[in-house]
Amino acid sequence: MTTSRIPGFYNLTLSERRVRAAAAAELSPLELAAWTTGGLTPESADPLVENVIGLHSLPVGLGLNFIVNGREVLVPMVIEEPSVVAGASFMAKLARAGGGFVATTSAPEMIGQMQVLDVDDVYSARLKILEHKTELLAEADGIDPVLKKFGGGARALEVRVIENSSIGAFLVVHLIYDVRDAMGANAVNTACEKLAPQIAAISGGRVHLRILSNLADRRISRARCLIPIGELAFDDFSGETVRDGIIEAWAFAACDPYRAATHNKGIMNGVDAVVLATGNDWRAIEAGAHAYAARSGRYTSLSTWSKDKDGNLTGTLEMPMAVGIIGGATKVHPAAKAALQLMGVKTASELAEVIASVGLAQNLAALRALATEGIQRGHMSLHARQVAIAAGASGVLIEKVAAQMVAEKLVRIDRAEEILKSFGAG
Ligand code: MEV
Repeated sequence: MTTSRIPGFYNLTLSERRVRAAAAAELSPLELAAWTTGGLTPESADPLVENVIGLHSLPVGLGLNFIVNGREVLVPMVIEEPSVVAGASFMAKLARAGGGFVATTSAPEMIGQMQVLDVDDVYSARLKILEHKTELLAEADGIDPVLKKFGGGARALEVRVIENSSIGAFLVVHLIYDVRDAMGANAVNTACEKLAPQIAAISGGRVHLRILSNLADRRISRARCLIPIGELAFDDFSGETVRDGIIEAWAFAACDPYRAATHNKGIMNGVDAVVLATGNDWRAIEAGAHAYAARSGRYTSLSTWSKDKDGNLTGTLEMPMAVGIIGGATKVHPAAKAALQLMGVKTASELAEVIASVGLAQNLAALRALATEGIQRGHMSLHARQVAIAAGASGVLIEKVAAQMVAEKLVRIDRAEEILKSFGAG
């Protein structure tokens, strides 16, 4: 990647953007060709799910200006909501002035759960299972030779006692499995199903559910950034006002679940857009994120915002990130392949680090807008463009009509038609 900074990208035509994006990523436009159609045909989609009757498409926008761990990265974002791509790109530009995003991931360890019922004495059964830990782990470790070859495999076995449930006491066995560059659901579910008969024999109980947990709290992605105070000022807002407004907005989310849900939704606008672009399971990511946000027993913000000793704004994000770059749609969907190629990510961890950085940028975009001019101004310009187009504007008239409606704070189709007439069109 040469640079993720492409000034004026917004003003280029669609085909010019494709050429510039490919050139910046040092790829040929052909390698990104999947995005001209969306990648799938009804025929290639047919084996992916059941009862296929066609395709459903969404826009892919390019997140610009990102530097993650010192590496320039162009980020494909699949989303239907206006302002998200622009917001992430703008905040990545501010973060760039502070050196970009620093992101890390823990080992790609997923948790598989086995529910053990009908055990006479849950406490003794727990110890019996733990006594067989070495052989159980060895058995689980051999199940996926491909993962093993790449350094993955079974890592740990934990046994929890659930003392009080509506069906009485039972055991939950957690199998911790390093899934390397896979999302890991298949590997973990297979391992749990294979181990179940042994667990049943050792415990004297009955293994009921055998499935991974989407609370992937051993597969965490973390990102942080610093925004120099000088970058925060705009219009009549000083850098200090914007910074303190963002920290106050975060404090609201940190203590109030009603606000935290919306705050985290803003983070997920960025996270899901990249997860979708790479063909990953965004429901798994959503489930993990919100369960993690409630891990203390009270639902709270996934991010933090503060200031350093020099008065600069600092932000952090920490969340589970069970994404893969092998298996599933990531390998069969041509657009997902293009997404991975454009970002130049070589491991699932690198992808997770980019995604966390985008989530943090997206959170900042929302808080900056909410803490200053309000969210509607940005939304209004995009909405005004859509209304101008609906009224019949094309070419340069789209911007002109939209700008006038925004200035008048009156975005309506009848007004757009009037303005178009005043320009001698429509
Ligand atoms: C809208 O999609 C997302 C926001 O509501 C996020 C937030 O309130 O922080 C703007």
